Amino acid sequence: MQLFIDSADTSEIKRAAETSACDGCTTNPSLAAKAGREYNEVLKEICSIIKGPVSAETVSLDAEGMVKEGIEFSKIAKNIVVKVPMTVEGMKACQKLTKKGIKVNVTLVFSANQALLAAKSGAFIVSPFVGRLDDIGEVGMDLIKDIRLIYNNYKFTTQILVASIRNPIHVFEAAKIGAEIATMPYSVFEQLFKHTLTDVGIKKFLEDWKKVPKKK
Ligand code: E4P
Repeated sequence: MQLFIDSADTSEIKRAAETSACDGCTTNPSLAAKAGREYNEVLKEICSIIKGPVSAETVSLDAEGMVKEGIEFSKIAKNIVVKVPMTVEGMKACQKLTKKGIKVNVTLVFSANQALLAAKSGAFIVSPFVGRLDDIGEVGMDLIKDIRLIYNNYKFTTQILVASIRNPIHVFEAAKIGAEIATMPYSVFEQLFKHTLTDVGIKKFLEDWKKVPKKK
């Protein structure tokens, strides 16, 4: 399973990359606003840090505009994946960009039928948002199970990227279902490495080590 960082903050992206456990990066306009820097400049820097897929999100509402933005993003680096929203226009853009050899991530997916349409449009990645579904009282992970089943039934190769992850439980649930990718904020990525008993164990071993006779 690939683990991506959901961020446009290059200092935390660097920290994630240093662990060698970070396989890619996803960004969106909200994350770009938080970073407070010119978007293309940030994307260029991210692509120099992360060798795996880096998603760059379009903001046009029409297919023509999305394709134009996508082509520009694809010139930044080879590992750029263009994000388009799950709309009729988004699916037109997905087909056009895919035909040009540009990889597409279909974002803002909240239903299994939307994921089916994304796969039929040739998406490289589909991004169902589990956290935002949980937020409105639905079970986000049920959507991942449904998409996995549908993609397996029809042998779609579109990769399921579990997005809008809020905690480590989302990550292992996504892994158990067999999603190819999980993207998460740095705070969750960091938590994956930790367990209270690991810290307690290290403390105890270090205390006991002091009692071990040393060579004089
Ligand atoms: C994924 O590509 C999205 O950028 C992201 O996971 C959205 O997460 P949020 O619901 O926490 O904003």
